Amino acid sequence: MAGRVQDKIALVTGGASGIGRGCALRLAEEGAIVVVSDIDDALGETTTNDIRNAGGQAEYLHHDVTDEDAWRNVVETIRSHHGGLNILVNNAGIGIGGSILDLSLADWQRQQAINLDGVFLGVKHCIPLMRDSGNGSIINMSSVAGLKGSANLSAYNATKGGVRLFTKGVALECGQQRWPIRVNSVHPGIIDTPITRNARLVGEMDKPEKRVEMVEGYQRRGYTPDRVARNILKAVEKNRLVAPISPEAWALYYMKRFAPWLLRRIGLVLARRTRRGSV
Ligand SMILES: NC(=O)c1ccc[n+]([C@@H]2O[C@H](COP(=O)([O-])OP(=O)(O)OC[C@H]3O[C@@H](n4cnc5c(N)ncnc54)[C@H](O)[C@@H]3O)[C@@H](O)[C@H]2O)c1
Repeated sequence: MAGRVQDKIALVTGGASGIGRGCALRLAEEGAIVVVSDIDDALGETTTNDIRNAGGQAEYLHHDVTDEDAWRNVVETIRSHHGGLNILVNNAGIGIGGSILDLSLADWQRQQAINLDGVFLGVKHCIPLMRDSGNGSIINMSSVAGLKGSANLSAYNATKGGVRLFTKGVALECGQQRWPIRVNSVHPGIIDTPITRNARLVGEMDKPEKRVEMVEGYQRRGYTPDRVARNILKAVEKNRLVAPISPEAWALYYMKRFAPWLLRRIGLVLARRTRRGSV
């Protein structure tokens, strides 16, 4: 039986780990030929081998999403190996947490470079190949942190809010230009991935017990990358421009629309309890 994205060519950035890996595996299972890109070559090759061992088609490319020349090379490689591109999951991202007073300009710039510049470069360089391919679907990875602000996450909030509005702007431009390309932002909630172990924490947040609290909290929530990938596929099929992914993301989305004052209150109470160490 043909899959939902049978024979489509898909590029997943940050496909070595977590949500990117989940999306790569799911797209391959649904029939896509998947190009996995990442800076972690060992884990990237593992994702690719796992796809092949399960009977799918995949290749791995080393690719730093902050590097514009690397984007040019990746797009040209996909053009020459596969002849086109139909799906881009602009997923690569990092988290940096801590008080605004402790964040350095270098932290801020690194956060923006990977999470926001990387998404911009992906959209800019993939659109021409998607246009030549006759159709395209761009999925930009935002977060619940792109729907609402959180204390100690302001730089991350800025990138994910930026991805949400950037996506809307590009989606409108595709419509205006009649380019056959959909552009959607997706907004997962608390997903159990290595991001909690990899995130850079600064100032008061940079304590072993804070890290353990975060890792265990995400593990307890237990929402897996595979569930995210399945729900992303559904949301894109429905062409939701802004797509909440997990139940907490849906709750925030509706609260923001219908009771923004309640969302602000809950956010403040939670932030104060976290500060006292009771959450
Ligand atoms: N885990 C969550 O709770 C959650 C929730 C909402 C959104 N997200 C977003 O999902 C995306 C994936 O996060 P994850 O939780 O799977 O984290 P993860 O750490 O498991 O995976 C991130 C991947 O991105 C790669 N990466 C980092 N910098 C890169 C660069 N410069 N170029 C290319 N690849 C790079 C890493 O090597 C890694 O493979 C991120 O954009 C993140 O912000 C995560």
